Amino acid sequence: MTGRMGTVVIGGGTGFIGSALSSLLKKKGYNTITVSRMPGPQRISWTELANSGLPKGCTAVVNLAGQNILNPTRRWTPGFKQNVWASRVNTTKALSTAICSADSKPSVFVTVSGVGYYKPSLNEEYTEDSSGGNFDFLSKLCTEWENAAKLPCDNVRQVIIRSGIVLGRNGGMIQQLYLPFWFGLGGPIGNGLQPLPWIHISDMSRLFLLAIEGQDGKNLSGVYNGVAPNIVTNAEFTKAFASALRRPAFIPVPQFALNIAFGEERAKIMTEGQRVKPKRAIESGFVYLYPNVDSACKAVVGVSKHPEDPL
Ligand SMILES: NC(=O)c1ccc[n+]([C@@H]2O[C@H](COP(=O)([O-])OP(=O)(O)OC[C@H]3O[C@@H](n4cnc5c(N)ncnc54)[C@H](OP(=O)(O)O)[C@@H]3O)[C@@H](O)[C@H]2O)c1
Repeated sequence: MTGRMGTVVIGGGTGFIGSALSSLLKKKGYNTITVSRMPGPQRISWTELANSGLPKGCTAVVNLAGQNILNPTRRWTPGFKQNVWASRVNTTKALSTAICSADSKPSVFVTVSGVGYYKPSLNEEYTEDSSGGNFDFLSKLCTEWENAAKLPCDNVRQVIIRSGIVLGRNGGMIQQLYLPFWFGLGGPIGNGLQPLPWIHISDMSRLFLLAIEGQDGKNLSGVYNGVAPNIVTNAEFTKAFASALRRPAFIPVPQFALNIAFGEERAKIMTEGQRVKPKRAIESGFVYLYPNVDSACKAVVGVSKHPEDPL
């Protein structure tokens, strides 16, 4: 089936961000095909992709696949780290190979990476021009993931979205926090002063759509920070989320507890943070539906949604 707007192939289209993007694209008239490890309607497997290439009529390719890093049931072992790495780098390479071998190439390849590219700091502000990507496991993973997205052929536009923590009811960090906060057991992590780079799931999906479609005849290309313009600290986010749920959030989560539960290297995603600015998204004319964390949290818990929220 071909959508009137074309067919978008999404690696990891079953996931939290992938399924939100897929539903937005369908509303806009696109057909979507997911590359997944599990069979299902409108899906192909990674093996089929490697053997038979991109499905006919594919006009854009997105990769949002990756083993869930914050799965609390998985210990931070060398084997799990290898899975976290390979599930991002290898799927991205598989899609880039398929794009370049296609007889009729899609016009754009959009991939995700993380703000873990930038070194955690309380004060430093980062834009897409800032350096990074070379100091720890997660930052090196971002570099390798972004390198894997570089196409070995011409004439296909490329966009990489360095994502902050995506706020939505159906996945990511909120899924881990929802119950404890609902029971009034939430609280800041450590002293709560660390920045928490965030973006609402609807804005994230809209940014991917902008990356695919462009706007006013202008196309995006290169790296874009996928974060909201208003930077908050962990404590400010905690307050906004608890207040959207109308719950107290007094009980701080000690940093050492997260280091024990998640392993220090991985716990950094929560115990440290970066002040990241979406300079290029703003320059490209992207309008956020949820620029402030209070309205984003209210939408996440279902209290009030922006009238133009497409999801
Ligand atoms: N959520 C966030 O806050 C956030 C922030 C920054 C970056 N990101 C990145 O954005 C991507 C999507 O995030 P998400 O929250 O949507 O993730 P998610 O809900 O965990 O979904 C990711 C998808 O990846 C596929 N997958 C999982 N393990 C895999 C493996 N070992 N090999 C191949 N595919 C695998 C799964 O699809 P199948 O089961 O169908 O194969 C899954 O649906 C991830 O790479 C993540 O690192 C997310």
